[in-house]
This record gives sequence, structure tokens and C-alpha cells, in this order.
Amino acid sequence: MNATEPHILTIFGASGDLTKRKLIPALFKLYQQKHLPEQFYILGIGRTENTDDNFRKKMAGWIDKQDEFPQQKQDFLKLLFYEPLDTGNPDAYIKQKNRLDELRAQSDIPENYIYYLATPPVLYEKVAQGLAIAGINKDEADKSWKRIIIEKPFGVDYESAKNLNKRLLCYFAEDQIYRIDHYLGKETVQNVLVTRFANGIFEPLWNRNYIHHVEITSAEDLGVEERGGYYDNAGALRDMVQNHLLQLVGLIAMEPPILAESTAIRNETMKVFQSLRPIKEEEVSKYVIRGQYTSCKVKGEKVPGYRDEEGVAKDSRTETYVALKFFIDNWRWSGIPFYIRSGKRLPTKVTEIVIHFKKSPHHIFSHQYEQMNTQNQLVIRVQPDEGLLIKFGMKEPGVGFKVKTANMDVHYSDFSKGRISEAYERLLLDCMQGDSTLYIRGDAVEEAWKFVQPILNAWKNQPDIPVYGYPAGTWGPEHADSLIEEPDLTWRYPCKNLSNDGEYCEL
Ligand SMILES: NC(=O)c1ccc[n+]([C@@H]2O[C@H](COP(=O)([O-])OP(=O)(O)OC[C@H]3O[C@@H](n4cnc5c(N)ncnc54)[C@H](OP(=O)(O)O)[C@@H]3O)[C@@H](O)[C@H]2O)c1
Repeated sequence: MNATEPHILTIFGASGDLTKRKLIPALFKLYQQKHLPEQFYILGIGRTENTDDNFRKKMAGWIDKQDEFPQQKQDFLKLLFYEPLDTGNPDAYIKQKNRLDELRAQSDIPENYIYYLATPPVLYEKVAQGLAIAGINKDEADKSWKRIIIEKPFGVDYESAKNLNKRLLCYFAEDQIYRIDHYLGKETVQNVLVTRFANGIFEPLWNRNYIHHVEITSAEDLGVEERGGYYDNAGALRDMVQNHLLQLVGLIAMEPPILAESTAIRNETMKVFQSLRPIKEEEVSKYVIRGQYTSCKVKGEKVPGYRDEEGVAKDSRTETYVALKFFIDNWRWSGIPFYIRSGKRLPTKVTEIVIHFKKSPHHIFSHQYEQMNTQNQLVIRVQPDEGLLIKFGMKEPGVGFKVKTANMDVHYSDFSKGRISEAYERLLLDCMQGDSTLYIRGDAVEEAWKFVQPILNAWKNQPDIPVYGYPAGTWGPEHADSLIEEPDLTWRYPCKNLSNDGEYCEL
């Protein structure tokens, strides 16, 4: 592991939800595991008036809820400071610089700074510009470094993402910019690389000759909760597919990198994004299905439909479900369909990647085999119950040759000695150590937006493309089944629908 050099981490948006729920708990875990340098401080910035002490008190409630480690907690909280500033005001950055200088002087820290932008996205460019005006944006060769972490969403479409990249690059160099996608911080997602490239058995089969299709599901059982206002302007395609799910596609489909190193890995995933066959605007209804959950009883309780959620327009056509079929036009994947789907208010919370292998070429046991299970599957469970599952045929003991599907199941929790780290722990530590492998490069973000842009355009310009209603607690619109054209194939359903009394309809 690289050394973590002394530095100060500034969190813009320190009075917000992400800071208390994810960032501070992750930093505390890093502190407990002694991954943070001895000379290290966290400076929180928000508009809300607050003192260092109050900020510490507020954050104390979000770490170590069982109070198991009171001394460690107290020591960690001493590293936290707060400065009330409005980042829309250019003077704020001079005040911030002065505060950073004060903190550096306390512990003899060089001008090594990380800026974490946990603010509304409209402020990303402004903050980068403000830091540049205050003169605290540039690396000084062999003396100090500056890094900036940008939260999602990175743009709302191709043009805005391109523009944001362009603006950020006016103030920071590409190797200083860390665009976060917390999916890449998940252990099981990184394990995709290890499964593929640390084993000799998978890679020879990992191509169009042996793989029939690839399926990725990201399901949530919850609705939009308090995020209705944000979500109604985003939808599942922007919120999940453009970033998280396409990043998974990148790791599944990439060529072997020459090294487990940032440039090598990111070059290969970039090639995958460049090879995605564009879905033409006029073909969107053939390849993409969108849906919206409607009110229904789930586990005996009535849940509201999407349009009844707070902050959502009564006539909203924002998709809470999206399913896509697409192809990767390169040597390895030519002709192999990829299916991805993501939705809210589905029967369970699960993210999984399923590699469906082709059937054996000659079925000598076919009359005694369970019809649907003749394809071997490798299931990579990203969350929850992280692990790997291989489904294959075994002889059922007894006379004849009755073949049954057996599961070879590895649970990550059995495999790891301690707890599995949260994505933000890994990603924060990587940034502290200057490793951008698990962050998204600017060109890859743009390429991913380029792929989804025709879908956004079609939905905007062709109002007759249906939004299918699906009852909350089910696996989404039935029309999504039609994307998989082969008669005896369907999506993998990790569990059954939870409700059947609702109506499938066109909204
Ligand atoms: N929450 C999550 O789980 C999550 C997950 C993924 C990505 N994100 C992204 O992370 C970012 C923050 O999300 P959030 O949920 O934490 O939002 P939030 O709860 O609304 O917090 C926003 C923060 O930005 C600060 N802020 C707003 N305008 C400001 C200004 N002019 N000057 C200084 N500070 C300002 C707010 O400070 P005051 O309230 O003090 O004004 C607050 O601390 C967003 O871009 C979001 O998309 C969040």
C-alpha cells in the first residue's frame, strides 16, 4: 500500500446529508484502522453557521453509534474543524485559505489539500474557480499536491458533462480531478477484476464463443423517499445507468490491462465505452423500456405510487425503471447482447451481474434436464450478500442420468476476516494516496453520456414512447421481457413479485 502523506481534507457541503451519513463515518473507520496520516485535519465548509465544537458534536452522532470506542471517537473528533462560508461568494476562498494556513501551522502540514465537493452540482465549477482565484489549486512539484473530488451527478447530459470537464480543466489538471462513482469502491466490483484476471479458468471462456448474454440488474425495494424533487429531474437512466451500471459494463467487458494500474485499467474501460453500439433515436422503443411504479400493497401495506410522492409532478413521465438491450461492437463481444435494468420499488434490493454461458453444443441428457436451466451462469452479487455463485448441472444420485442445477456459492463475508469496508472508505483512501484507478476519467464520463444521450433525446422528442406503469413490489413492466427475444429465456429473478393485485398499464 502507498503511504498516505500529511494533508488537509476540505469538505464543501459539510452540513449536508452525504457528509454525515457517508464521509465522516468512512473517515472514522480509516482513522480506526490507522490509515490516516498523523498530520491530518478535516475542514468542513457549509453556509450553515456552526462552530468547530458544534460540528464535532453533530458528527459524533453519526460515528460509532454503539459508543464502543469512546476514546478513539474523541481523538478522531479533534481532527474536525468547521468554517461557515458561502461558496458562491469569491471572498469565501480567501477565508478558507487563511483557515487552512492556520491549521497547517498547528501541525506542520505541507500545502497538500484534498477538496471534496459534496455540494449541489451547480457549485462544482464555482468552487474550482474560487480555489484557483485563492491560489490553492496547483501542485508544486516535489513540494505539495492538490486534489479535487467531484460527486455525482457529473452533468445532466452529454453537453453539460463535456462543458463541466472543460471548465474544471481550466483550474485543475486531469490527474488532480477525482470523479467519484461509489460503485467502483465496492469490494465485489473490484473483485470482478480479480475474478477475471487472477484466474486461468474464466478468461478463456470470457468472449462471444462461450458467453450467450450478459445481464446486469440493480434493484431497489424503496421508492424515492425524500429525494422526489431531485429524482423527478433525473430518473433511473441518469441516476443509475449512465454512471454505475455502465461502469460495471466497463469492468465486465474490458480487455486484460497490462497492469493493475490506473492508466492501464482506465484505458481499457474507455475502449469498451467507445465500442458501445449507439442506440439510434428512432430505435429507442425497440431497445429501451421505461416504467414508473404505481401504488400497490406490498407485504400487506399500501405504498404510494411515484406520482403521489413528495416533490414529484402529478403528471411526471420520469422513469423509475429502465431496461436496455445493447451490443458492444468489438472482437470479443461481437453479436452478444447485454441486458441491463434498474428500478425502484422492485421486490428486493439487489445488484448483480449474471454471465449466461452458451449451452453445451450437443445435449445428450436433454430429455432429463430441467428446461430453463441448461445454461451455466456465473452470478456476481455486488450487494447485498456479496459473493459469487456458479450454477451448473450435476447428476442427481440414482438410476439414469437425471441432471439437476447445483450451486457453487462463495459468500464474501465467509471469505473476509473482518468487516467488508464501505465504498467511501476505499475511495477516500485511494485519493489520499493519489491512486485514481477507481475514479472515472473525464473522457469516460463523456463517452458514457454520449451513449445514453439518444435515449434522453428520444424520450424528450417522442412523447408517444410509452411509460409503462408497474405495481410497486413487482419486477417492473412486463414489456421488459420482450427485450429478450429468445422464447425460453427471461431475466433472472432473484425472488418473486411481492404483489400481484396492482395493474400493469400505460401511463
Ligand atoms: N446524499 C447522498 O447519499 C448522495 C449520494 C451520492 C451523491 N450525492 C451528491 O453529493 C452532493 C451533496 O449531496 P447531499 O445529499 O449531501 O446534499 P444536501 O444534504 O442538500 O447538502 C448540500 C450541502 O451543500 C452546501 N451548500 C449548498 N449551497 C452552498 C453554498 N452556496 N455555499 C456553501 N455550501 C453550500 C449545504 O450547506 P448549507 O445547508 O449549510 O447551506 C450542504 O452542506 C450532491 O451533489 C449529491 O448529488 C449525495
